Amino acid sequence: MADNPYRTAEAGRPSGTIGWLVHYFEELESTQQTAAAMAARGAAHGEVVVAEQQTAGRGRMGRRWHSPPGVNFYGTFILRPELPVAEAALLSLVAGVAVAEAMETVAPRIVALKWPNDVWLGGRKAGGIIAEAVTDSQHRLACVLLGIGLNLNLAPEHIPVELRDRATSVMAATGRPCDRVELAGELFSRLNSRYMETLSGGFAAVRPAWERYSALTGRRVTVIDGHSRIAGTVAGIGSDGALLLEAEGRVVRVLAGDVSIEGAYD
Ligand code: BTN
Repeated sequence: MADNPYRTAEAGRPSGTIGWLVHYFEELESTQQTAAAMAARGAAHGEVVVAEQQTAGRGRMGRRWHSPPGVNFYGTFILRPELPVAEAALLSLVAGVAVAEAMETVAPRIVALKWPNDVWLGGRKAGGIIAEAVTDSQHRLACVLLGIGLNLNLAPEHIPVELRDRATSVMAATGRPCDRVELAGELFSRLNSRYMETLSGGFAAVRPAWERYSALTGRRVTVIDGHSRIAGTVAGIGSDGALLLEAEGRVVRVLAGDVSIEGAYD
């Protein structure tokens, strides 16, 4: 394993809090895969797998996550909450707030969240989050593998051409590079606070902060999930994390799907 530049980000964190132990690799297929193997061998709550680059970074819905070396953050956090399996996905929304708060420190006033778990800078995607639930033999939640990818110092000309109208990075959006390890430290702190808040007060405790960052509330959108498509105006998110859509005179709860905003990039 290479020297671990993230030692300073883990410094001072009590063991068992998020980010207390960083497993750093120069190259992995996917931090999700390596974290899954470590969790199966008993890795503790709060340990995080960070890679300098990923050769098969995974996005939502089977997509690839562009993961070049030396410029971004790719990490998977092993979380062991005592929650019903059905509530594990809420942790990706909780993480969204923590990521937004950390990004705010390097890109003030241009951070927004696009339901369910995209992080935007100035209307373009700079980060993504996935939460994969792992269950035990009794179908109880064993752990959640919370994967976070952040485009930080990716130069505009290195954003893949096919993504250029929809994707960005901290450097592309602000014109300034950021210190990746410092940002990771911010992320660990914010994630730990928001996670603890959720354990004591449920998602309802974090929901107002999520709403403040929401890029969608009040906007006309179309949600596509497989073969189903629904258009409406976003009223907010529910206490269960569903997107609340005013459509055809009623409020519809949307549990999954890809959202595109009328008159904006998706
Ligand atoms: C999305 O599609 O928006 C979610 C992207 C999540 C990417 C991160 S990068 C670290 C972790 N490892 C992966 O393979 N995927 C997640």
